[in-house]
Amino acid sequence: MSKYLITSALPYINGVKHLGNLAGSLLPADVYARFLRHEGEEVLFVCATDEHGTPAELSAREAQLSVQEYCDAMYRTQSSIYAQFGLSFDHFGRTSSVPNRVLTQHFYEQLMRHGYLVERPIRQIYSAEDGRFLPDRYVVGTCPKCGYQAARGDQCESCTAVLDPTDLVAPRSAISGSTDLEVRETDHLFLRLDGLAGPIRDWVDQHHQWSRLTRSIALKWLDEGLSERCVTRDLPWGVPVPRAGFENKVFYVWFDAPIGYIGATKEWSDQAPHERDWRAWWWDASDVTYSQFMAKDNVPFHTVFFPGMVLGTREPWTMARQIKSFNWLTYYGGKFSTSQKRGIFLDDALALFPADYWRYFLLANAPESDDSRFTWELFAQAVNKDLVGTFGNFVNRTLKLIEAHFGHVVPEGGAPGDAEQRLQDDCQRLTGGYREHLRHQEFRKAVQVLRELWATGNVYLDRRAPWNLLKTQRDEAAVILRTAINLIAYFAMAADPIIPFAAGTVLDALQVNDRERQKWLVTIDLESYRPEQEFRVPDLLFRRIDGTEIVALRKRFEGL
Ligand code: 2FM
Ligand code: ZN
Repeated sequence: MSKYLITSALPYINGVKHLGNLAGSLLPADVYARFLRHEGEEVLFVCATDEHGTPAELSAREAQLSVQEYCDAMYRTQSSIYAQFGLSFDHFGRTSSVPNRVLTQHFYEQLMRHGYLVERPIRQIYSAEDGRFLPDRYVVGTCPKCGYQAARGDQCESCTAVLDPTDLVAPRSAISGSTDLEVRETDHLFLRLDGLAGPIRDWVDQHHQWSRLTRSIALKWLDEGLSERCVTRDLPWGVPVPRAGFENKVFYVWFDAPIGYIGATKEWSDQAPHERDWRAWWWDASDVTYSQFMAKDNVPFHTVFFPGMVLGTREPWTMARQIKSFNWLTYYGGKFSTSQKRGIFLDDALALFPADYWRYFLLANAPESDDSRFTWELFAQAVNKDLVGTFGNFVNRTLKLIEAHFGHVVPEGGAPGDAEQRLQDDCQRLTGGYREHLRHQEFRKAVQVLRELWATGNVYLDRRAPWNLLKTQRDEAAVILRTAINLIAYFAMAADPIIPFAAGTVLDALQVNDRERQKWLVTIDLESYRPEQEFRVPDLLFRRIDGTEIVALRKRFEGL
């Protein structure tokens, strides 16, 4: 049996993330983890805050806190938000942890030993007006590859080309806007990606199952040819470089960030060292299937740069088998952006609507094969039609009807007939497809099937119309309503990876015990929830979002 290691791209520490971050890595990773746990697989789902780099330093300065204090506070804020969204991490760590520092320095030692790190003097951009060296991403200018005018010095957000700040045409400081930039010489370490290109390509070639998006980005990078890449920086905040002459330097944030996946696992293991072993997941672990989730701008780092680092150690670290990448979620067609404060931030989102509304919308519209749009109109439509109108309505009308005519117990009497058998077969077929889609990390398709599954309940109820039979054929009405309440339990179980809060409310109200919940969806048996079992009618699961509310929300967020 395989063990499943799952990681989501590590969110930067600087500030509350927006819906795009949730849609493009954290949420799908969570759904996959929840799904596999239901399937009885052994799962380890880890994530962490990505705490190094200049953004943290600058945000701390803005907040008038030390970087450490700022990161501590933001770590607490982010952890709490992710918990409220139901993200079921086995551990949510920090790249600034001691384990991550030790591991990062270990990677450095190994890469140095095998000649994949070399020291070279570089000319780096110094801003007189800012009184400091400018980290790559704080130099902006025109991308030499595609002409995008706001390209950052580390990477062009438009064409994903990985850049050096000196590549930019017409560079300026992103901090002050100053163009009074001078080039000064300082010593740095370079990762010899050029020498690792062969092994990286061999590794990429072994992964034909990657989506077109992931593969095309990886191959584009490899085809362009790999060159040495600077992996140290003149900054005070980061993992120190254990090397003479490098006392004032730290590793580049993208050097220690992916090692953070391992570091977070080590943190998890250190919390219960007798029960947990991080090495069993990361070191010489041929029984581990590792899936990474990320937005497309992270793909070059996960298909080329980090694998290059790992291969360069010549050690048996676990490498990703599946790299699931996502396009962008747009806000009315424009880019969500933390720096430009455009879009909906996760704390605002939670204050407006319950987590499940967001989870459902973002998964139903996962930007898998293309960018997808967030609009309040589409959001309201998904909530009103699918959550309120289909799932919520089925639960509510069924339970209310039973309550009124049979009390708070599963109705007894009658025997299932052909209609029930057909329904059971349909559910079996649909849940089979649903599980396949989730197994293949196809989230949009999975939600489509879930919606279809819920719809079968309403169609069944409408066709069988138990309300017409209550007086004359009470046994027949009992079978129908018993089947319907069984469906509710199945629908909620199926929905659990997608909308865990509502699913939990329903299963609790139905008093479905843990053993029953563990049966999951393998064999659908619409008689398993037996007569005489008691239930409660939960409060309405979801509420409608009406037109006036949409207008108000558009207005409120239009200024961002
Ligand atoms: O793009 C980002 O948000 C990065 N913080 C992702 C890092 S992923 C991993 F490698 F750490
Ligand atoms: Zn570009």
